[in-house]
Amino acid sequence: MDVVTPPLILGIETSCDETGVGLVRGTTLLANAVASSVDEHVRFGGVVPEVASRAHLEAIVPTMHRALDEAGCRLADVDAVAVTAGPGLAGALMVGVSAAKALAVALDRPLYGVNHLVGHVAAEQLENGPLTEPVVALLVSGGHTEILQVDDIATAAELLGQTIDDAAGEAFDKVARLIGLKYPGGPHIQRAAAEGDPAAIRFPRGLTAPRDMTRHRYDFSFSGLKTAVARWVETAEAAGKPVPVADVAAGFQEAVADVLTKKAVLACQERGVSTMVLAGGVAANARLRELTEQRCAAAGITLRQPRFSLCTDNGAMIAALGAAVVERGLPPSPLDFATDSSLPVTEVLVGAGQFS
Ligand code: KG4
Ligand code: ZN
Repeated sequence: MDVVTPPLILGIETSCDETGVGLVRGTTLLANAVASSVDEHVRFGGVVPEVASRAHLEAIVPTMHRALDEAGCRLADVDAVAVTAGPGLAGALMVGVSAAKALAVALDRPLYGVNHLVGHVAAEQLENGPLTEPVVALLVSGGHTEILQVDDIATAAELLGQTIDDAAGEAFDKVARLIGLKYPGGPHIQRAAAEGDPAAIRFPRGLTAPRDMTRHRYDFSFSGLKTAVARWVETAEAAGKPVPVADVAAGFQEAVADVLTKKAVLACQERGVSTMVLAGGVAANARLRELTEQRCAAAGITLRQPRFSLCTDNGAMIAALGAAVVERGLPPSPLDFATDSSLPVTEVLVGAGQFS
């Protein structure tokens, strides 16, 4: 029997502060090279778009060579190029899309502009094999906090809910700053929280009141939580009391993990979906993972989660989505497609609509 080797897909990701180039065949990961500009943003306490764009420009070619070396491939072996078309930072996206277009033209290979959010879900296939759709995905990072339903990884995704203000990771970063911890705040809060009591201070769970559960059933809000932490710290300081950093960190982390997992499990139950995918930088949070595992197990939901290097922004996830699109025989994106910083999640592949 002939074993057909799936095409070699090169994926490029530059939507935020990670320059990623990945190589994938089918659902097999061959290389995942990432260059992060996070250190350049530390002194600003968050990602500065112009700084990120410049860093992408400097990192894109070396990162591509690193990926090819890692996979033991040459550029000429690449069968198709996939790239994040959006959503993300406009200038940052443009660097990746320009590089991908140049590569596709130079190699005379098809180009697929794909959706970053759906890419996060596709990354899971590189860890545990093909997904059994439908799945509900909980995506949590410094840039996004969304619940998606994916009925078909190559063609059908739906946004069920998202943050109406700060992303969860952004809330970790801002709260860290309030209590004197460094950027990025997530790992520092997690470390401090390990010494604290999560029940010592009960912080508010945004958009969980009955009234909000009607209008914003699967949406999140973290700005009220951030303000509640700020007020709590101010009150303690005004009373001349030392701020119990560990308890504040633990109470805050618990509030975030509680609301994220509760709404994602609810989405699975109400949509009749029995698989959840957890991804994004905040998925590194031990308490979030633990609570998600517990609640999924209690609800009979299978939890799938890729290793951390595939959870954060990377090029392999874009290559994985490109591979799924190619496998389905979908037409490439037109070469003149534009980046779209607010690309809707329903648009898994740019240009796909014009052919259907
Ligand atoms: O996906 P990611 O690497 O990229 C961007 O969004 O740019 O996510 C970064 C975010 C940061 O906000 C960081 O504070 C958060 O993920 N993060 C964590 C942890 N590790 C990283 N949040 C909570 N707990 C962690 N252990
Ligand atoms: Zn992302």
